[in-house]
Amino acid sequence: MSGSTGRFATARVATAQVSLTADLHFPARVLFGRGVLDRVGPLARGWSEHALVVTDRGMPATGLVDRVTDGLRAAGVEPIVYDGVTPNPTIAQVEAGLEAGAGRGIGVIVSVGGGSAHDCAKTIALVAANGGEVRDYEGFDRSPHRALPCIAVNTTSGSGADVSRYAVITDPGRSLKMIIADAHLTPRLAVNDPLTTVGLPSAVTMATGLDALTHAIEAYVSTAASQVTDLFALRAIELAVADLPRAVRDGADLEARDGMMLAALLAGLAIDSASVGAVHALAHQLGAVYDLPHGVCNGILLPVVCEFNQPASTERYARVAAIVGGGRGGRPLRALLRALGDRVGLPRGLAELGVERSALPDLAARALDDMCMQTNPRPMRHADIVACYERAL
Ligand SMILES: [Fe+2]
Repeated sequence: MSGSTGRFATARVATAQVSLTADLHFPARVLFGRGVLDRVGPLARGWSEHALVVTDRGMPATGLVDRVTDGLRAAGVEPIVYDGVTPNPTIAQVEAGLEAGAGRGIGVIVSVGGGSAHDCAKTIALVAANGGEVRDYEGFDRSPHRALPCIAVNTTSGSGADVSRYAVITDPGRSLKMIIADAHLTPRLAVNDPLTTVGLPSAVTMATGLDALTHAIEAYVSTAASQVTDLFALRAIELAVADLPRAVRDGADLEARDGMMLAALLAGLAIDSASVGAVHALAHQLGAVYDLPHGVCNGILLPVVCEFNQPASTERYARVAAIVGGGRGGRPLRALLRALGDRVGLPRGLAELGVERSALPDLAARALDDMCMQTNPRPMRHADIVACYERAL
């Protein structure tokens, strides 16, 4: 068919920048809005009378775990709490969670927290239903059976783990962040109540918010981007740029909390289908080797990786720059992102976090093998990765 006449020619011009072909993944159900936390108990009861609640050690002090467990009990669900999750959750934590729930008739898993709690809970649910070892599920779609039902209750605005089919689990024996990508991992219910984020410290708001912004930008320039994921990604970038500085400045600014939770949700939906790119591939190694916060690593690496990738996707990065720059053209995207990082209190470089120049070649070799590299818009060689790490020092 000729592309020069008729309706299809118009469509082709309009969509020239992105594929019409898409392989889209969506969660089953998402609750969003102030107060939706109260619906967790009755919905969990639809699956089981026994729930394993997975959370991190600091979370019970916020009172949010009590609210969830009280809601579960009121609905007739008996909770067992496993609160051993840390940032960069490990295989041992998944195993401890499995042990905590063993023989208790658990039929639903409820994670309360951010990406670490959700990733740990999702992996517990997958292994509980399929057996074997955590390492058996590294890679794409390795599980034969659906996981136990998971309810992911977000208390941060960043990871997107509540709506994604990915879990990242650290294997300390290999100093590696294993990526488990499996359609069975996606929580059956994601709960996004912006009121849960009101008490978040500004440093956590900053780190998680920059993770969401990185998801949105990497999904938008991903080789797996599509018309549908673009809608989510572009809106997420707009929201994060507008609302992250506000949420960091005033943690009680409810409109900013709404905006950031929506940004994180939309970015999560975008990456579930479009995946991420080199920022994540490089950041994962820093998390695995130095146990550094994921969002902070992303925030520091994002400007330099965008600069490297720009020649491969000029128009898309120009659009990102227009959003980040608020329409005031002229400044390069790297400088605009750096300025945004300064506004929200991001450390200026990796050296501040203890990363040493001598470690960069090894980190780069590890990053080359990271699954997230596969959808980066510009292929990276080992020397390119070392150079990016050096510029981010
Ligand atoms: Fe991330």
